[in-house]
Amino acid sequence: MADILIKNVYIIDPDNNTNNMGDIFIKNGVFADPETAEGNVEIINGSGLKAAPGLVDLHVHLRDPGQTDKEDILSGCRAAAAGGVTSLLAMPNTVPTVDSPGTVEYIKNKAKDADAHVYVVGSITKGLGGHEATDIDALYEAGIDALSDDGRPVLDTSIMVKAMQKAAELNIPVTAHCEDPYLAGGKVNEGDISVQLGIKGMPRAAEDAGTARELSLAAAYDVPIHICHVSTCTSANMIRDAKKAGVKVTAETAPHYLMLTEQELLKKDADYRMNPPLRTERDRLAMIEALKDGTIDAIATDHAPHTPDEKADFENAPNGSIGMETSFAAAYTVLVKGGVMSEGELIQKMSCNPAAILGIPAGTMYIGAPADLFLYKEEEWTVDPEKLHGKSKNTPFKGIRMYAKVKMTICGGKIVYRDQ
Ligand code: DOR
Repeated sequence: MADILIKNVYIIDPDNNTNNMGDIFIKNGVFADPETAEGNVEIINGSGLKAAPGLVDLHVHLRDPGQTDKEDILSGCRAAAAGGVTSLLAMPNTVPTVDSPGTVEYIKNKAKDADAHVYVVGSITKGLGGHEATDIDALYEAGIDALSDDGRPVLDTSIMVKAMQKAAELNIPVTAHCEDPYLAGGKVNEGDISVQLGIKGMPRAAEDAGTARELSLAAAYDVPIHICHVSTCTSANMIRDAKKAGVKVTAETAPHYLMLTEQELLKKDADYRMNPPLRTERDRLAMIEALKDGTIDAIATDHAPHTPDEKADFENAPNGSIGMETSFAAAYTVLVKGGVMSEGELIQKMSCNPAAILGIPAGTMYIGAPADLFLYKEEEWTVDPEKLHGKSKNTPFKGIRMYAKVKMTICGGKIVYRDQ
């Protein structure tokens, strides 16, 4: 692996208060002082480009083991690299689920050759069944980095409490898929659009009741919780109030909730169906406001690949959409181009904050840190699903004009993506 010198690039590194032109030197896989660059160095001309610490995506479904027709660890990480994502948190709803040390070891081992750092979530209940606790100590020994039953809520609240307490002890996050199982079901947001389409809706109350439960547990037991894929105005309000009251809560939303609404469902295309569903314009604006005021800490994708065959049937297709290759472009387009926040603030939401939530050495370009970064350009382009790098094509951003493009990604000092 050659050392790399990126010359005359605009550096945005909020962790080190850097927002200026400069050079970046990478030696033996870590950031080094550009003044010391010498010998056999690959020079990259950074003029016209911006550099930021690699993105950290807290919510990714890699589908491996078991569903590798949708995605696998290596293809998912290629998609990550194409989106500037250098670290990702892989959810446990694989086949089998990540409820045993053997499956954790399988993922970690395969991920050694991947184009991104893969962090592993262990499930809280066996088979994500909601009723039988996993052996968290054994999963931790095997190397898990977080706990969740994502894809579903943890049905047995007492198991959730024990997992949150154990996670606090181990200093790893619990990431919560908030959904009341008795209110859940349905295919699109419950409201005018579900009525117009004549199909069962998913009420906002299902998500909100789940959020309320997790916040209550975090408050009562004084332990941290991370709320996944927030999509409703009410959940954002509850998180805001909880933060004010000192509850140890962090939260993420996804680019599709920032850019799209339930109106897309009138196209009757299952690529716009995910759980939680696209909501109303009021909810979309509430997500933007919650990001801006710090209620929501991070933007994560909920990258959920499904094959074209599975997605062909609007009503019966599984929920989920891919997102890692478009997350930065979409978030930049809504938030930076839209005048909501600065590029530095966006990098905080997509790199620094998620790195801190996960407690990993990322989200910074300080000398000596692992050389994870991406280069991007303010450039207009249109998302073409056929040009994406993962195995599945189910993007809700197809045909959308974006205003920033990832040009190169470097992970651990290695160039893992170059835009052609
Ligand atoms: O839309 C979704 N897809 N939401 C989830 O919670 C799970 C995910 C998946 O695994 O496909």
